[in-house]
Amino acid sequence: MSDAVRDGTIAVILAAGQGKRMKSDLPKVMHKVGGMPMIGMVYDAVKRSGIRRCVVVVGYREEVVRAYLGDQVEYVVQTERLGTGHAVLTALRALGDISGQTRVLVVHGDMPLIRPETISRICEQSGANAERASLMYADLPNPFGFGRIVRDSEGRFIGIVEQKDASEDEERITEVNVGIYCFDAVLLRSALGMLRSDNRQGEFYLTDVFASFVGSGRHVGVYPMQNNRECLGVNDRAELAALNRTLWDEKCGALMRDSGVTIIDPQNTYIDQNVKVGRDTVIYPGCVLEGGTEIGEGALIGPYTRSADSVVGAGAKIENSVVTQAAVGEGANVGPFAYLRPGTVLRANVKVGDFVEIKNATVGEGTKIPHLSYVGDADVGDNTNIGCGAITCNYDGREKHRTTIGSNVFIGSNSNLVAPVTVMDGAYIASGSTITEDVPGDALAIARERQVVKDHWVSKKGLTRAPKT
Ligand code: UD1
Ligand code: CA
Repeated sequence: MSDAVRDGTIAVILAAGQGKRMKSDLPKVMHKVGGMPMIGMVYDAVKRSGIRRCVVVVGYREEVVRAYLGDQVEYVVQTERLGTGHAVLTALRALGDISGQTRVLVVHGDMPLIRPETISRICEQSGANAERASLMYADLPNPFGFGRIVRDSEGRFIGIVEQKDASEDEERITEVNVGIYCFDAVLLRSALGMLRSDNRQGEFYLTDVFASFVGSGRHVGVYPMQNNRECLGVNDRAELAALNRTLWDEKCGALMRDSGVTIIDPQNTYIDQNVKVGRDTVIYPGCVLEGGTEIGEGALIGPYTRSADSVVGAGAKIENSVVTQAAVGEGANVGPFAYLRPGTVLRANVKVGDFVEIKNATVGEGTKIPHLSYVGDADVGDNTNIGCGAITCNYDGREKHRTTIGSNVFIGSNSNLVAPVTVMDGAYIASGSTITEDVPGDALAIARERQVVKDHWVSKKGLTRAPKT
């Protein structure tokens, strides 16, 4: 986008609606598509188009939208949702004095697949052709629900009619209004001030300004979308699922074709848009890879593994496990049935086996935690072995404490390490111990009752369990 167009344009994203058909406490634009709230995707596209000033019209549960987008945008509150025209007018009024040159890009917050190129294109062309108002349309095989593009007998654009107000003839029109526009700000503001709400929905339609512009002989631009996929919107949960399905299919396709990833069953693999996966990694069915997850080359993931915002090194293997905000080193072997919680860092070639939970802990290279352990708030060195069922007792009922375990340590099975406590390099802990004091390196610590054996106790008590003859 040229500097002049970019600097003279203010973006307005409409996001005040509840989205009644979603039947949700969450504003519609906060529902996630491809792992990101729709409003985030739309804002991303606006930002990447180059437009710097962005106003978001909020209303229904505005605090949720504000908390998510933060202070990178300006907000205008539309207290009563009286329609898209009213939403834009509210925004323009809040902007105060606007110069005669200012242009406004309006985009709906519920069209998450809109691309920055499309935003640039309508802004550039609208500016270059000195249009007072411009819109984009698409020709859809199933136009139901969209506003229709109405033309006169010579094919000239004369206005938009909403689905609910359309006559039978108009319902047959397949050209639809997409929900992205560019306007001369000053003219738009006066046109919006004259809108009426005498329609089926009793709303002030932004789309009505087009007929009024055409009627008063203003120059209006009408541009076809290059890619109908960008018009896919979300109005209810079934459409949300359909859109996510499309994105998952595309993501798996791109990973297989462009990145050399083997995906055994793409229909049963759910990968968010921003996830990265390296070459020759194999993803088994049932995996959910979310957020900023990055997986290196030659890894084996799944079946049935969920990884959120985690980094997995090359050649690692993670089977039937849940991994959130964790780092898994190269060649590490995790699961089946492991739970790696936030703050877990596994260095290279660590083994974490079945029913092991790790939280806020660093585990050194080559260390093994093969079965049934809890390691929380701990630092573990290299080549240590933590036996079956050994756990850190990190919580005293009020506060969390850290456990430090050195390198080449052997923690016997079913031991309890009561934090804060340190086991130094090369020490051994006898199995079944409850360790409450620091253990020096190279030492053996035994902290359990000595075994007592009472000879012939069973028969003396008359409790012999001999087989019946
Ligand atoms: C709108 C268009 C329709 C177009 C379709 C494309 C109008 C009158 N109709 O219909 O021509 O084909 O989008 O998807 O514009 N919003 C507000 N405040 C309001 C009302 C809506 O901020 O008072 C926001 C919503 O949060 C949403 C966007 O505007 O993000 C569009 O509103 P929605 O009710 O979904 O419009 P459609 O009925 O889909
Ligand atoms: Ca809509």
